[in-house]
Amino acid sequence: MQIECIRVLLVEDDPGQVAVINTLLKRAHGVEFQLLIADRLSAGLECLTTGGMDIVLLDLSLPDSSGVNTFVKVRQAAPRMPIIVLTGTDDELLATELMRRGAQDYLFKGTIDGRLLVRAIRYSIFRMDSEEALEEQRRRHRLLMEGIPDVRIYFKDQKGRFLEVNQALARSHGLGDPQQAVGLTDYDLFASEYADQTARDEQEIMRTGQPILGKVERENGRDGTTSWALTTKMPLQDGNGRAVGVIGISRDITNLKSTEERLTTALEELTHSHEQLKETQLLLIQAEKLRSLGQMAASVAHEVRNPLAILHMGIECLDEFFFAGNETMTGVVKEMKGAVHRAEAIIRDMLDYSSARELELREVSVNGLVGQTLGFVRHELVKTKVRVTTQFAEGHCTCLLDAPKIEQVFINVFTNACHAMPGGGDLTVTTSERVIEIDDPEAEREDARGARFLRGDKVVTVEIRDSGSGIPEDKLDKLFDPFFTTKTSGNGTGLGLAVVKKIIDLHDGKISIANAEGGGARVTISLKSAPELQCNQTPCEVEKVLV
Ligand SMILES: Nc1ncnc2c1ncn2[C@@H]1O[C@H](COP(=O)(O)OP(=O)(O)OP(=O)(O)O)[C@@H](O)[C@H]1O
Ligand SMILES: [Mg+2]
Repeated sequence: MQIECIRVLLVEDDPGQVAVINTLLKRAHGVEFQLLIADRLSAGLECLTTGGMDIVLLDLSLPDSSGVNTFVKVRQAAPRMPIIVLTGTDDELLATELMRRGAQDYLFKGTIDGRLLVRAIRYSIFRMDSEEALEEQRRRHRLLMEGIPDVRIYFKDQKGRFLEVNQALARSHGLGDPQQAVGLTDYDLFASEYADQTARDEQEIMRTGQPILGKVERENGRDGTTSWALTTKMPLQDGNGRAVGVIGISRDITNLKSTEERLTTALEELTHSHEQLKETQLLLIQAEKLRSLGQMAASVAHEVRNPLAILHMGIECLDEFFFAGNETMTGVVKEMKGAVHRAEAIIRDMLDYSSARELELREVSVNGLVGQTLGFVRHELVKTKVRVTTQFAEGHCTCLLDAPKIEQVFINVFTNACHAMPGGGDLTVTTSERVIEIDDPEAEREDARGARFLRGDKVVTVEIRDSGSGIPEDKLDKLFDPFFTTKTSGNGTGLGLAVVKKIIDLHDGKISIANAEGGGARVTISLKSAPELQCNQTPCEVEKVLV
């Protein structure tokens, strides 16, 4: 067994007393003392600067110092050294004063015995060590509480009252001293709605023993201000492991949160712009395709038109001069005429499509134009047993239009409706006029070309509804493509709606086709009313040929 060795500095000028103490320490069991003697305070202080001592036994009355002052000087020279004061007087007041100033013990020389002395030395060393350990712990606690300036730390009791808070928390609530927060609750610092929530969280933590980690909280101040915090809370346990409160750590993340919000908005805007860019890119590609297609159609049409005219004349000639009276050949010639006629119609459509770039505008009543066009297709309507109903808005619904071209639009749309109702049906044409308000579905909404109606614009809308087959959903976005048709060869070229769209676009109008509720299709055409155009344009502009 290793014997404990304690190094003792005895500061004592009385040789008799030195001898007594030396004898007492030598007799001790289980511990060995190394005694160093200094007969003056100056000699004692010098020993202490050399170091290596575990404890000081100090007589207060020395040749070069006396009283409490002797103790004060030794304590200053060795702040962490345990000191036992030895005096010749049994003075309680002096004893209390010395203990207050940091003496570990006080012994009256007259009553010292061996066991008492050894026990006092050991306890003093132990107490000094414990105090040091405690002080070290306090130092670390202070460091933890105050070391990170933007982290708020607090301890609360079972009722949510602050037991201890750090500077950062006190500062965030405008309190000069953390002590001012002691005894307050969240109800004193925050709006009750937020305090209710924290109280519920804390009760739950104490009930379950489970912490809440990294909760993002919106803190509502009593003055109506709002901030964001990232909070972690855990149970505060007593020595028996019972939850007697909570410990909380939180950090203000208001700046982080607003940066995050700004980033999210920026990302949304970026995504939106990206979508728009993609759409525009598609439109540009589409426009380029259509332009080339138009050019090609125009040149093909020109090339084919002359041979067709010659064919036409030839057939007329054959019919008149060679086959007159020949029944069989008259039938063949009739079919040939029909075929040439269809070819000519296709050429006409293609030329329309490729050359529909010029408008001759004049004020036209849309109601009148619709009525007139219905007359043009009367034959087709009667043939297909289609009943027509018109609901015209009051007044003329006047627009600045190229009337023949808009007639062409209506003829195409009415004909399509008839074709969609081969066994008969209902065609309803409705016109209306309105001023675009801010809540109008058309207000400010751009169509694919970027055309839009502005708030305050006066607009005439023609709705053509049929009770036909309707349009398969997957075909809806192809209807305006040139040459898109579902009709059999000879019954349609698929240029009708492409021409329609082009003419409406040239008028800065809008057209859409959708399936109507209850079946059939619904074509909606909107055109700006004349007064708006007139007030924005000079008379010569009205007459201007748009290219
Ligand atoms: N009212 C409608 N009901 C159902 N389908 C329709 C209607 N209008 C158009 N469609 C569909 O749209 C397609 C394209 O129409 P579009 O007028 O462009 O060409 P088309 O009628 O086929 O030929 P044409 O060049 O002779 O007009 C049609 O083939 C048809 O499938
Ligand atoms: Mg058509």
